[in-house]
Amino acid sequence: MRTLTLVTTILALVALPVKAGQPTRTGRFSHDQLVRYAEKYGTPLYVYDGDLIEMKFHRFRSAFAAAYPKVKIYYALKANTNLSIVALLRKAGAAAECISLGEIRIALGLGFPGQDILFTSSSKSPDELAFAVENGVTVNLDSMGDLENLIAVVERLQKKVPISFRINPDVDPKTHRHIATGHKFSKFGILIAHDEFIAAYRRALQCPWLEIKGIQSHIGSQIMQLEPFIRNVELVSLAVRRLKKELGIELEFIDLGGGLGIPYQDGVAPLTPRTVAAEVGRRLKTELADLGYLPTLVLEPGRYFVGDSGILVARVNSVKHTPYRHFINVNTGFNHLIRPLLYEAYHRVRVLNGTGKLGLFDLAGNICETGDILAQDRLLPTPRPGDYVAFLDAGAYGASMASPYNSFFMPAEVLVRHGRDSLIRSRQTMDDLTRNQILLDELR
Ligand code: LLP
Repeated sequence: MRTLTLVTTILALVALPVKAGQPTRTGRFSHDQLVRYAEKYGTPLYVYDGDLIEMKFHRFRSAFAAAYPKVKIYYALKANTNLSIVALLRKAGAAAECISLGEIRIALGLGFPGQDILFTSSSKSPDELAFAVENGVTVNLDSMGDLENLIAVVERLQKKVPISFRINPDVDPKTHRHIATGHKFSKFGILIAHDEFIAAYRRALQCPWLEIKGIQSHIGSQIMQLEPFIRNVELVSLAVRRLKKELGIELEFIDLGGGLGIPYQDGVAPLTPRTVAAEVGRRLKTELADLGYLPTLVLEPGRYFVGDSGILVARVNSVKHTPYRHFINVNTGFNHLIRPLLYEAYHRVRVLNGTGKLGLFDLAGNICETGDILAQDRLLPTPRPGDYVAFLDAGAYGASMASPYNSFFMPAEVLVRHGRDSLIRSRQTMDDLTRNQILLDELR
């Protein structure tokens, strides 16, 4: 790391001429094209490559379909909840994994049938449960308490509901600690090791309104190694075999969650769906060989479909030099892309139209907090005020985690499909910013 910094510093000092080594394209977008979008729609602007999203969905699904006889692919809406993006994935053939009433309603509104929606929150309210039951959504239960709450709801509504249980296999997914979910200290799922999961299924069997459909396990996000996925297959399969042997339960589906990572840095090899699918499929078939029935394999990725399709384009407000650091001040911040701050995440940065000499810069946001640095120590051409920079791989957990903190407007979003750009979220306005707030008469 230190060597790299030294090399980049030396390069910066010799002040290489402009274009040397600087990319002129990002994915399928030329930088000129991104600048045109920035001028047309304003900044900050999320730009998505819709063709890439579709391609990645098909690549993922065909990899798993080639490795296992029955598969169903859900899209985890939380990664990017823009209506057009969710609709695009629905058209491609995805079902919907949802975490809240809002996400369920988005999915229903876009035409996903209830049976293609899985509701997976670890903390569901009675209202959310009732809504899911009324709409034929499959409820993925996270705890005994969650189960009892659902039983109370279905007894009141006298309505059947398909269910699964999220189990916690205690697997280390080797990812950032904030997004590791399937280890024994996490808040998610019913621990397999303590047999509580058998008790949960047994309890569910006693309630005539519950239709036991599956088992689910999501061990974490941004997973770049095969081994945790395989360990998850082994442990979930063990649970499936025990359910058959001890309770006579045959499941319709085994859901291994999402979590497939994408490379955020140059030179990092991707873990491909083909590699994961081949090994997961092979392992699952072996593990379930004596089961006597064949459940559907369900997966529910988010990031893999949309992560590298999205670019956050921002405008340079100024460049600031101190004796210690060099800052490019941009018109966005952790309010629009929180991943660097929250997960120490690395996003590649491009200066789209800078022509200045190379320098080593920090990309500083416009939020009034010291932590609002979107990228550090990047060797980039010195931009001028008004030039544009792009933060890459921002399609997943970018816009969907954005907030109006510091009263900046939420960014606009553009989807590019078959070479055509369309606005899919207009920029917030002053009215949007204060909507729902009430200024008390006595304070006017
Ligand atoms: N299924 C469940 C139950 C999940 O909780 C998640 C993500 C997914 C599927 C999709 O995981 P993916 O394929 O996208 O890794 N904000 C973080 C990621 C949080 C993931 C939350 N759960 C980030 O920006 O890295």
